[in-house]
Amino acid sequence: MNKPYTAEHAFARGGVAVRASLLKAASAVCAAAALAFAVQPAQAADAANGKVLADSHNCAACHGVNLNKPVSPDYPKLAGQHADYVYWALRQYQMGNGNPNFGRSNPIMQAQVQSLSERDLKDLAAYVESLKGDLVEKK
Ligand code: HEC
Repeated sequence: MNKPYTAEHAFARGGVAVRASLLKAASAVCAAAALAFAVQPAQAADAANGKVLADSHNCAACHGVNLNKPVSPDYPKLAGQHADYVYWALRQYQMGNGNPNFGRSNPIMQAQVQSLSERDLKDLAAYVESLKGDLVEKK
């Protein structure tokens, strides 16, 4: 059966793979310690690396200075947006038309994200959230 693809699926699958390889590597040492290690949260997103990526991929060429002043009103302001939302939006552009249920088919953004890894998307999302934006009032 074809189950709908969700972010939870992707995370769950990644988690199982990581856990499996960790267990294998550590089984000679101590399986209990490996299990404890495997349930630790994934490495936190790195906003500083997100800035490096945003600079090298020229995100500001369209989304403007500090991703807050788009060059055209039909381009979105990004600064301050929740990282979870930004990450998911970027994943959706990667999926594009290939996933009619979850993909976003925008040829401009699809071209921007194809070369980026999952980790890159998370770092970019953390960077976007860290920026001060016109649309978001931080309380
Ligand atoms: C060539 C211009 C261009 C570049 C470069 C560009 N973007 Fe975009 N971006 C757009 C446009 C246009 C949209 C709106 C697309 C749509 O309608 O779905 C968009 C949408 C987005 C969105 C969705 C915003 C929302 O509120 O849903 C995110 C997130 C985003 N871009 C992040 C980035 C990042 C990160 C980079 C650099 C890696 C980048 N963009 C580079 C033009 C660009």
